[in-house]
Amino acid sequence: MKANAQLDHLKKLREEARLGGGQKKIDKIHSEGRYTARERIDMLLDPGSFEEFDMFKLHRCRDFGMDSKQFPGDGVITGFGTIDGRIIYVFAQDFTVLGGSLSETFAEKICKIMDLAMKNGAPVIGLNDSGGARIQEGIESLAGYSEIFQRNVMASGVIPQISAIFGPCAGGAVYSPALTDFVTMVKKQSYMFLTGPKVVKSVTHEDVSVEELGGADMHASRSGVSDYPAESGEDAIRYIKKLISFIPQNNLENTPLAVCDDPVTRNSTGLNTIIPDNHNEAYDMKDVILETVDNRDFLEIKENFAPNIITGFARYNGMSVGIVANQPKHLSGVLDIDSSVKGARFVRFCDCFNIPVVTFVDVPGFLPGTAQEYGGVIRNGAKILYAYAEATIPKVTVITRKAYGGAYCVMSSKHLRGDINYAWPTSEIAVMGAKGAVGVLYGRQAQKQDDPAAFLAEKEKEYQETVANPYVAAQRGYIDDIIEPARTRTRICNALTLIKDKRDTNPMKKHGNIPL
Ligand code: HXC
Repeated sequence: MKANAQLDHLKKLREEARLGGGQKKIDKIHSEGRYTARERIDMLLDPGSFEEFDMFKLHRCRDFGMDSKQFPGDGVITGFGTIDGRIIYVFAQDFTVLGGSLSETFAEKICKIMDLAMKNGAPVIGLNDSGGARIQEGIESLAGYSEIFQRNVMASGVIPQISAIFGPCAGGAVYSPALTDFVTMVKKQSYMFLTGPKVVKSVTHEDVSVEELGGADMHASRSGVSDYPAESGEDAIRYIKKLISFIPQNNLENTPLAVCDDPVTRNSTGLNTIIPDNHNEAYDMKDVILETVDNRDFLEIKENFAPNIITGFARYNGMSVGIVANQPKHLSGVLDIDSSVKGARFVRFCDCFNIPVVTFVDVPGFLPGTAQEYGGVIRNGAKILYAYAEATIPKVTVITRKAYGGAYCVMSSKHLRGDINYAWPTSEIAVMGAKGAVGVLYGRQAQKQDDPAAFLAEKEKEYQETVANPYVAAQRGYIDDIIEPARTRTRICNALTLIKDKRDTNPMKKHGNIPL
């Protein structure tokens, strides 16, 4: 072939490969209001930056008539490109090719880019849309999944891994996204479950729809599998790009410093009065976060799951941070099983990737009750304690109001290597709330009084004034300073600047044994 003819041939082959399972299947995807795998990659990466690998790779299955069913690229598009100029490895499952089902060669393609991402220290983003293991292949496909799982685990804590689910994700296929750091699912278009409604019906006799069993809203609010329920394919892509902007390329790098046009010295006078006079009244901790971070820009993670704790990313003076905050607006900000697990996983992500954590504390304690005790609030509550205690990243803590009991210890206290710990004058730091404490200390004595209620109220006031304030902790040095709420932003920015190059270590060990 002459050079031109060779180039034309290559062009034709590429065009064929780009069609995946064919125009009809592409039209069907569009008619469902969905994007194709290639369109998703185009939306995700900087224009023109995508370099594709293995476009001509073919499956090796010869059974069930598969020798005549060949699609160049075999149902998954892999390669690398950039987001805001930073290298990203990506794979996108192409539902138009045999339902995006995973074959041995399909898995090999994903493993290739995961290996490259590991060697080169760049994030991997997986865009999932697949009917699961390719049924015609059987064991080869299971082997392929397992190879991916192994790489997910080796990459964990070394490079960020992010998954988006745009369509089906069922059976063992769910475990690769579950092993990654963040998962977003598109509402009404995607679902994740181990077994579908039919199997559920035959085993447990439950009637449940696909949406109820494994839809985006369910996983974002109940199971906690998903971090964000996206409104659409575009929204899922937007979320990933925003997420990437807050996190570093790998565990040896820091996140690039952003340009900050929000003055460090900006005061938030509204914060001086945000705590209600009645200390049992709620306020919105998100107002505190938004008031203090750069340009009120906060990306929340798992907003709908365990909303009694808030987790997410923001910046102070251009520095990327993870934020963990109790939310008095939900269950008074109490720590329970779900909020402990949510907080722990988030802190551990930040610790893996050198992202400082800023913690806002207003927590009345751990949630009492049989449901919590039977569910393992001891074991699960220990996770957040463990996560803060093992974290060697810079840690800044601001107590806004309550910091009671075990929850005081857990929430990035000085004793768990909190670097800079501040408290607002409204803080109440004590072993337990005044009511509970007085009940234990004076319950019997109260019964002997003419007016037990008045006696207890008096004792409560006394306890509150003597113990439940920030000054006792400040006298001990457990609190570095009691700060004016309006100046919280400035104080956090300065604290982060002070400790940004902090180095701390844990003893050499294979790995710790977090109470799973
Ligand atoms: C091979 C598959 C396939 C699969 C879909 N297709 N899933 N081919 N292996 N797993 C093919 C279909 O035959 C069809 O081909 C095309 O993809 C589109 O599928 P449709 O059924 O027409 O699409 P739709 O109606 O949208 O339904 C999508 C679906 C359904 C819900 C995903 O296809 C489905 O239930 N698939 C099987 C799911 C499954 O049981 N997978 C195995 C799970 S077990 P044609 O040629 O007709 O267009 C598993 C184990 C992994 O994954 C363990 C890892 C540890």
